[in-house]
Amino acid sequence: MEKWVFFDLDGTLTRSEEGIWNCARYAAERMGFPLPDEETLKKWIGPPLIWSFRNLMGMTEEQAWEAQKIYRERYTTVGKYENRVYPGIRNLLRALRSAGVHLGVVTGKPEAPTRDILAHFGLWKFMERLACATDAKAEKDHLIRSVMPEGAAEVWMAGDRKYDMEGGVGAGVHTLGVTWGYGSEEELRTAGAERIAHTPWEAAEILCPGAEKPKGAFLSMEGLDGSGKSTQIEKLTDTLDRYGFEVVHSREPGGTPIGEKIREILLSRENEEMTDVTEALLYAAARAQHVRERIRPAVKDGKVLLCDRFLDSSVAYQGGGRRLGVDQVLAINRPAVEDTLPLLTVYLDLDYRTSLRRRSEASQLDRLEAEKEDFHARVEAGYHELISRNPERYAAVDARGDREEIAGKIAERVLEKLMAEET
Ligand code: TYD
Repeated sequence: MEKWVFFDLDGTLTRSEEGIWNCARYAAERMGFPLPDEETLKKWIGPPLIWSFRNLMGMTEEQAWEAQKIYRERYTTVGKYENRVYPGIRNLLRALRSAGVHLGVVTGKPEAPTRDILAHFGLWKFMERLACATDAKAEKDHLIRSVMPEGAAEVWMAGDRKYDMEGGVGAGVHTLGVTWGYGSEEELRTAGAERIAHTPWEAAEILCPGAEKPKGAFLSMEGLDGSGKSTQIEKLTDTLDRYGFEVVHSREPGGTPIGEKIREILLSRENEEMTDVTEALLYAAARAQHVRERIRPAVKDGKVLLCDRFLDSSVAYQGGGRRLGVDQVLAINRPAVEDTLPLLTVYLDLDYRTSLRRRSEASQLDRLEAEKEDFHARVEAGYHELISRNPERYAAVDARGDREEIAGKIAERVLEKLMAEET
């Protein structure tokens, strides 16, 4: 039998308080009402706007309509994107879709911002039906009925507030209450929730028993020392998090207890006598452990693993810098990585002279950073050779200039790649 699941939007798929609260405050201020406190704002998400302006701010019917107009002016331009997809939602939707479950959205929001939000966050592609409130009709049972499939089907309404549960009960469908949004478990149960999920993956298991976790992704970030990797990793993590990807971090050399011990050996300035081949083998050894202990399990578990350096560093530093050659370094690393390569590698493109200048301001240099200028020139050349051999695997971004702009370019490339993988 066909299965359909309708999701509420605010508080269920997206955590929309930032935008909603900013707009509610804005409307209150413009109407000359006192700014609502946090407790009041918490009750704001779920009920129709008119109801909230009247009951939570004490407006008259007429004032409430005016306030709604002001609210929507800000919401439709800025507020709708002040939003986050809950972590794990993408994997829930992907798992249901790949199990053949039909999905839709039933929301008390108007249609235009709903479509924009779903499209902006790349969730639209999962949805087949959409029911949104109009000024005339906002009751959820009515909205659910308007998108119900014809004929026999198992239909669920999933949401975080009593309105979703009451709507589901009224429309005669199954109800799933979710507790990561704005309503409590008690509220949901009192309103008739048939089942309760505390995490998106619990919801997947209720809605589709035996559902399989979709595969995550492996991304790496590369660049010369001082190219701003740490800052950009932080910014990219925040963006991916906003889009509902479950991001985990790692780094090379390191990322595992064994790898961190190897890292100490590699970077210690006491180890002056280390030969170039030993160095390459140690990086590869740490990597072999990392691939098996961290990277593969994380990807299997649906996570986006974002790694500070990977194989490309070996090719550039040992292959280029130490002159072992690209092919020898790849050969040494073959048993370490096998087929585990990043889906996309962000390369922060910075010429070695600027990189050296930036680093000379840092106090403690490790064994590799302390190498001479021509070493770093060869590392840079190594990266460029790699990218020219296989340009589609890299997002090369100019690392000079404004950090936010750089972050924006990186986010665009990475999101495009990750979302293309989801279909
Ligand atoms: P780390 O402190 O992690 O890098 P960063 O200075 O970018 O924060 O130090 C790692 C050093 O190891 C760095 O100089 C690059 C080098 N390296 C290699 O030579 N080969 C490799 O395979 C990897 C992963 C790193």
